[in-house]
Amino acid sequence: MIRGVVVAGVLLIGAGAVMAQQDVAVKQDNLMRAQAKQLYNVILKTAKGEIPYDQKSIDAALAQLEQDVSTIPTVFATNPKEDVVNATYGSSQKIWKNKADFDSRVPPVKKAIADVKGKVKDVASLKLAYESINSKCTDCHETYRLKLK
Ligand code: HEC
Repeated sequence: MIRGVVVAGVLLIGAGAVMAQQDVAVKQDNLMRAQAKQLYNVILKTAKGEIPYDQKSIDAALAQLEQDVSTIPTVFATNPKEDVVNATYGSSQKIWKNKADFDSRVPPVKKAIADVKGKVKDVASLKLAYESINSKCTDCHETYRLKLK
């Protein structure tokens, strides 16, 4: 009886740890998806003419993106040691071996956003803004993001 309780306890702790790691991985993935929402669903689609140019939504997307990007170093503070279930992309273990270098990929994205904020006025300037921001996202992805499928 006592043994049964102990085994159940260990199983529960094990399940809790797995869930905590999934929570961390999901939180990290959600941050990236939120950034993608602003950069791809609003900025890129407008730049491509798929949705009409709307100054307010562009300004809001840039402001939100700037805020989200600043949180990358803290949201990626912990190594979840596992990927989000069924995810297309995962985090390379290199992140936690070179956390300072990983974090150093964030300020260039923030700078690219700050440089264009208030200057994007039309589709042409938006296209340039997209290219410059996206190239900085890619600088981190090339080293630290893994394609899982
Ligand atoms: C400092 C590094 C870093 C920067 C900067 C960065 N990312 Fe990521 N990104 C990652 C890592 C690591 C992953 C894989 C793990 C994950 O999905 O959480 C990822 C995954 C993604 C994914 C895939 C999500 C999925 O699972 O479908 C998207 C989309 C994405 N990032 C968008 C962006 C955008 C847009 C920017 C720029 C505004 C950006 N990222 C900047 C590190 C970064």
